[in-house]
Amino acid sequence: MSQESQLTTALAEAATTAGHAPSVHNTQPWRWRVLPDALELRSVADRQLAASDPDGRLLAVSCGAALHHARLALAAEGWRVVVQRLPDPDDSELLARLTSLSRTAADPDAMRMVQCMQVRHTDRRPVSDEPVPPAAIEEITRAVSAEGCRLQILDRDQVLELAATAGHADTVEADDPELRTELAYWTSRAGSGTGLPAEVLPEQPAQTTVPGRDFGRPGSLPVGPGHDRMAVYAMLHGDEDERGSWLRAGEALSAGWLTATRLGVSAVPLSSAVEVPGTRQTLRQLLSGIGFPYLVLRLGIADQAHSGPPHTPRLTTAQVVDTSAVR
Ligand SMILES: Cc1cc2nc3c(=O)[nH]c(=O)nc-3n(C[C@H](O)[C@H](O)[C@H](O)COP(=O)(O)O)c2cc1C
Repeated sequence: MSQESQLTTALAEAATTAGHAPSVHNTQPWRWRVLPDALELRSVADRQLAASDPDGRLLAVSCGAALHHARLALAAEGWRVVVQRLPDPDDSELLARLTSLSRTAADPDAMRMVQCMQVRHTDRRPVSDEPVPPAAIEEITRAVSAEGCRLQILDRDQVLELAATAGHADTVEADDPELRTELAYWTSRAGSGTGLPAEVLPEQPAQTTVPGRDFGRPGSLPVGPGHDRMAVYAMLHGDEDERGSWLRAGEALSAGWLTATRLGVSAVPLSSAVEVPGTRQTLRQLLSGIGFPYLVLRLGIADQAHSGPPHTPRLTTAQVVDTSAVR
């Protein structure tokens, strides 16, 4: 294989691997373009949540998670890259360009993280009564910091405030017909490779302090009698509230979540309180103004005794990776 085709094969494979990344409502709002010497990440307006995410905050976080997955996939295969974020101010859909690729030794830590991508998933059942080891929380927090973001662990009072805030956000969203229609669309896309199938959504709301997101319809995932007493709630936050920082937040989310997976810790993002402007402001106050909230995360040890949800489907490679420029 020539060096050029080795490179474009690696880029196409990294883009495919990035398809494992989490995204809000499994919208997968990204498209990759493989070029002879670079890989471009573009957002897809059709898969943006126009009603609940008009600013593209969660779209950028989702795309950032895919970007981090692609970076790891390249490092695992022994490629060093330069990442240009938002490289063209006149092209708002171009979120990142991975460029200046050169060979280096394959990174064993990245290889391990690529394995974690295949098993990571969102388990919305209540967590078990097993506590999350403090050393695991520290490691997850460090992984987030290494990507330029912060993870604040909430204390008991803050968790109670979060519970009220998340409950209020769900009520606001349930009362809005446009938001209800949007949610119904993304929870009834069986067979499309996007959205949330019934099997990953709880059969009934779990009896937890902080309510899980209200998806507006019951799923078929048995929740069991569990609680969230042993869950740790954390807030991903940072210094700015604009597209570049949301993209970085997604990279940090990926780093933290894959690290959690490696350590046997389950993570569930909770974003409704970030979507509603009023509750987003409350979350900001909860952080005492030290940063802008990007996402709430529930960390816990999943119930091992009962089977969890299946993997959520994905779009095909042909739908998200454009190789026409290198064919
Ligand atoms: C930015 C973002 C926001 C999310 N918000 C929620 C949420 O509010 N509630 C929830 O249950 N899952 C949430 N998720 C998880 C996604 O629904 C999940 O990643 C997606 O359906 C793909 O499934 P998987 O994580 O099992 O691969 C969110 C994920 C991302 C990246």
